[in-house]
Amino acid sequence: EENYIKAVEANKIPEDDVIGVDVNGYNLAVYNVEGEFFATDNICTHGNAKLCDGFLDGHRIECPLHQGEFDVRSGKACTSPLTEDIKAYPTKVGDDGFIYISM
Ligand code: FES
Repeated sequence: EENYIKAVEANKIPEDDVIGVDVNGYNLAVYNVEGEFFATDNICTHGNAKLCDGFLDGHRIECPLHQGEFDVRSGKACTSPLTEDIKAYPTKVGDDGFIYISM
């Protein structure tokens, strides 16, 4: 069974924005794309940069350091210089208004 962990209030993340959240000792980036929520690891697979400091355009997060782009739905590395996908996690919003992340 999937294990969803309470992460952050959904209304803390503005639409079309991303924040960094510590969940269970992991630093995650949590995205709001038109009211849908997604979560990935926060540290880029290419270097020491936080995706929460990057630029979210639709379902793509652009890393602030070398502008590589990941798809936040799958974690897929879409553009160079990225060669490694980033881990993406399923999310759901509970009746309490919190985002829950399966890790
Ligand atoms: Fe993210 Fe280089 S550190 S693209």
